[in-house]
Amino acid sequence: MDLKSKEYIDKIRSLAKQKNAVIFAHYYTRPEIQECADFIGDSLALAQQATRIDADILVMCGVHFMGETMKILCPQKKVLIPDMNAGCSLADSCKAEDLAAFINEEIRKSENEKIIVVSYVNTSADVKALTDVVVTSSNAKKIVDQLPKDAKIIFGPDHNLGSYINSVTGRNMILWNGACHVHSRFSLEALLQLKAANPGVEVLAHPECKAPVLAQSDVIGSTKALLEHTIRSSAKRFIIATESGILFEMQRACPDKEFIPVPPEITEGVGCSCNECEYMRMNTLEKLYNCLLNESPEMHVDKEIAEKAISSIQRMLEMS
Ligand code: 13P
Ligand code: SF4
Repeated sequence: MDLKSKEYIDKIRSLAKQKNAVIFAHYYTRPEIQECADFIGDSLALAQQATRIDADILVMCGVHFMGETMKILCPQKKVLIPDMNAGCSLADSCKAEDLAAFINEEIRKSENEKIIVVSYVNTSADVKALTDVVVTSSNAKKIVDQLPKDAKIIFGPDHNLGSYINSVTGRNMILWNGACHVHSRFSLEALLQLKAANPGVEVLAHPECKAPVLAQSDVIGSTKALLEHTIRSSAKRFIIATESGILFEMQRACPDKEFIPVPPEITEGVGCSCNECEYMRMNTLEKLYNCLLNESPEMHVDKEIAEKAISSIQRMLEMS
């Protein structure tokens, strides 16, 4: 790490102490942000941890919906997010008004049959307000398994995750057709080449990847589940199909192991040499420092929406 980053981290840490602030970071953020944070986690762990923390200020280094979820769970606390423009292509693929129309259409078709709306945490507060229970990639199977067997379930927005959960639960949930632009572009060809070049090496994939990639994977799970697997396993090498930010924590936890990232599909004009979520990378040390110093940008959620959204998030925490 360069000197400038180290100086920033020292300044951020002392400011956080002075302001009684706690810094949270998702595994997909830049290594220096993870280095600076008090808590690093997947989206479920970050939400759970936020409810247990006694601090005046919570800073969420992740993406917009993570800050929103934190504010909904901790309405009395000041929730800051280093860059309000750090969005999520998956959350953007499901607008509340479109979901409401979709739900109404299913209600009309189902002639009063009970419909349960399950939404992935990667959604706006408005979508969570229309939802019965929120899930993350960590707990989706566990929660769907607890829903009544005869219920008609709408699952959104991630189609890949929904198909995967259908396959492991035997349910036939009606799926929204959304996707994460990072995970959906993992290349099956590149994965097959990596497997051929590294025989016997386990493939670890996030369930937001497409079905053909998941079909070639040995372990499918949330970022935290994949990390825990690499720590527990006696294997020394792993092929990783998820956002490459997780490699920082995997390498830190297992310095003697090797992690081989699956490259994305390179389509004309799109694609990069590594699988990075540009929204997560919008969290920089400079923005984090300024956000703590100025206590801005601050996350606000409309009171009425937050009141509706909180029950679906709390239901998830109870059922996890
Ligand atoms: P996790 O639930 O594994 O943290 O994933 C969040 C996310 O944004 C995946 O792209
Ligand atoms: Fe959203 Fe995909 Fe980025 Fe996760 S990796 S925050 S799902 S755009």
